[in-house]
Amino acid sequence: MKKSEILFLKQEEVIQAGLLDMHQAIEVAEFTFRLLGEGQIRQPNKIFLGVPNDENWESYGMSMPAYIGGEHPVIGFKWAAESVYNSTQPGMPYGLDMVLLSDPKTMYPKAIMDGTIITAMRTSAAAGVCAKYAARKNSKVAALIGAGVIGRTMIMAMREAVPSLEEIRIVDLDMAKAEAMAAEFAGIDNVVPYCDTKAACDGADLIVTETTSRKEFIPKDWLKSNATLIQMEAHSFEKDVILSADRIILDSWEQMTHLPGHVFQQMHDAGMIDSDRVHHIHELATGQLAARENDDEFIFCGTYGMGCLDLTIADKLYRNAVEMGLGTKLVQWDNPLWV
Ligand SMILES: NC(=O)c1ccc[n+]([C@@H]2O[C@H](COP(=O)([O-])OP(=O)(O)OC[C@H]3O[C@@H](n4cnc5c(N)ncnc54)[C@H](O)[C@@H]3O)[C@@H](O)[C@H]2O)c1
Repeated sequence: MKKSEILFLKQEEVIQAGLLDMHQAIEVAEFTFRLLGEGQIRQPNKIFLGVPNDENWESYGMSMPAYIGGEHPVIGFKWAAESVYNSTQPGMPYGLDMVLLSDPKTMYPKAIMDGTIITAMRTSAAAGVCAKYAARKNSKVAALIGAGVIGRTMIMAMREAVPSLEEIRIVDLDMAKAEAMAAEFAGIDNVVPYCDTKAACDGADLIVTETTSRKEFIPKDWLKSNATLIQMEAHSFEKDVILSADRIILDSWEQMTHLPGHVFQQMHDAGMIDSDRVHHIHELATGQLAARENDDEFIFCGTYGMGCLDLTIADKLYRNAVEMGLGTKLVQWDNPLWV
């Protein structure tokens, strides 16, 4: 009988296993999009569950399952959990994500690990894949809007994916956050803090938004006519910016129009856009589609996050951890009852 053995990896161990290597994260993300395009991934829409409460705080969990085929088959899910209450308390993270990986044949769980930083890395790695294919090859200036957790990994991803960049503008409503973020990269890159989004967008070749804004705030007349835009949250660019793009490229039209509140769900419900107007990032990774045909085009990319990226990155880190002897072994049972 096969013993149940689960490798538990805490955040420090996931990091030791190579999580902060953005080059690796972008490679894994690109490979994942390719598998998706080849039909080797099964991924139902994520399930959102909000916690009802009558206090002045909100929390929710999202279950994000996927099956990954190919050379390293794995099945599992990320439990993405977020609590607004935590962000009012010192030292309590807003997001507390976990990833569970199982063997697809026996379904034995093989690893459980912290997924919080995996989320940040895979999110910006997906944007990195968009930028690699869609940004003009001579892009010099990027404006990254939102100097939070994703803002930090976005700087890492854009410098990796677009090596021609000479200036990265990091923008936040809170200038102190933008300044602190720029200081983290001082001496490595030309990262310049801004608090005025319009000024930061002026002349930018590449604009990536990763804010917590609940409404659209970037109009068309702030943007260069051949810019590449990448939107990571539900609302940032105004609807006519998106609709005027020469090409719209998303991680998942199905998911964006399935979850309530996203700008694509609103535009779809209002009859402003349909699926035939949209392309997918996996078409770029498989070579079926060129993100842009020339340097004059105005390109919009958007992601909302996919569990398959969490699983492929987590599985790569699991394999690294096994080789490095990291983690704590747990057992589900010594002798399974009633088999
Ligand atoms: N697409 C994906 O896969 C994916 C994955 C994870 C998170 N996200 C989204 O990315 C966003 C950022 O997440 P985070 O963890 O970095 O949040 P965070 O709270 O750490 O940072 C967000 C930052 O945006 C700033 N901000 C808010 N509105 C702004 C505006 N109008 N202009 C400029 N700055 C503004 C805030 O001051 C804050 O510093 C969230 O909306 C989150 O839901 C997307």
